[in-house]
Amino acid sequence: MTTVAAHPQPRGWVDNAIRLIEADSRRSADTHLLRYPLPMSWGGGADIALYLKDESTHITGSLKHRLARSLFLYGLCNGRIDERTTVVEASSGSTAVSEAYFAALLGLPFIAVMTASTSASKIKLIEAQGGRCHFVGQPGDVYTEAQRIADETGGHYLDQFTNAERATDWRGNNNIAESIYEQMSAERHPIPSWIVVGAGTGGTSATMGRYIRYRRHQTKLCVVDPENSAFFPSYAEGRPVVTEIPSRIEGIGRPRVEPSFLPEIVDRMVSVPDSASIAAAHHVSRVLGRRVGPSTGTNVWGAFGVLAEMVAAGVGGSVVTLIADSGDRYADTYYDADWLAAHNLDPSVYAGALAEFERSCGWVWSGSSTAS
Ligand SMILES: Cc1ncc(COP(=O)(O)O)c(C=O)c1O
Repeated sequence: MTTVAAHPQPRGWVDNAIRLIEADSRRSADTHLLRYPLPMSWGGGADIALYLKDESTHITGSLKHRLARSLFLYGLCNGRIDERTTVVEASSGSTAVSEAYFAALLGLPFIAVMTASTSASKIKLIEAQGGRCHFVGQPGDVYTEAQRIADETGGHYLDQFTNAERATDWRGNNNIAESIYEQMSAERHPIPSWIVVGAGTGGTSATMGRYIRYRRHQTKLCVVDPENSAFFPSYAEGRPVVTEIPSRIEGIGRPRVEPSFLPEIVDRMVSVPDSASIAAAHHVSRVLGRRVGPSTGTNVWGAFGVLAEMVAAGVGGSVVTLIADSGDRYADTYYDADWLAAHNLDPSVYAGALAEFERSCGWVWSGSSTAS
């Protein structure tokens, strides 16, 4: 009778792969927390501050660098990635750019499954690191296609949309939330009243919400969502929603509620018009003197609304949001007037609301938002 079964796994390659990722992390610095220059003209009445966690300064240019590192470590520590593994991912671009970097670091083949509308500069960045891009027509097709390619190649589908929330160490390990609270610790209002983020996988908002609860902070979490995304209507209506039209704000907004999105720990959602996101991205770019990506506009639009609400209520405090990636990746799209017109996007419609915010901290926009 057989009483022992064994599948001993040689661990030399995996040990070294984990060391390589750890060494890469140690060579990297944390991202800056910038204080956004709110107008001085508001006078002494406005005891508020806005901070931008600048995730564009990661070596692969976006907040997805953290996720890519976590997903590779998760795959390695779960025994799903070894020296023969083809790594496959479904992505709207930024995650694949970061994952191509880690695949190259470990010498593994990498295939990104994306929609054909993914920005040319992201495709170039993936290919420059040795990754391959495989295109599908609709955003909803990326999941099954990535799984199919992984099955066919005997590879591993990283599946950021499922695994983001579980691969990230939400209690600490210098995750994005811990880093923000540490960097805020000497500010006048060290515990933010609100943290405002967008959702692609939902992993970033999950990390923020869990960390806030774990550390028993009073901070509230607001998730901003672009037009045509399933997250906002599902949250507002309390039922699963699937949408047909792809998000026009790269990196955030999904056609289905992703498994990594945890609505129970989100205090409020705001649905932001796409042209408002772009108007805000252009506005922030002018204020900072450098371009930010479109989802940063969505974030800042949400943050301005919250700040105006605090001022109207006569309460002081701080608000933190993210520069998710740089606008340099979008010179031919969100920063190109012809491209905007061709996509029916008109940021000028929202210039008045931003000017009024700058002038008086008043918020003349009343769009869709809901509190849980
Ligand atoms: C470019 C970009 N990608 C992704 C996300 C969302 O990240 P996650 O996948 O963690 O939800 C954001 C959120 O701000 C973003 O701006």
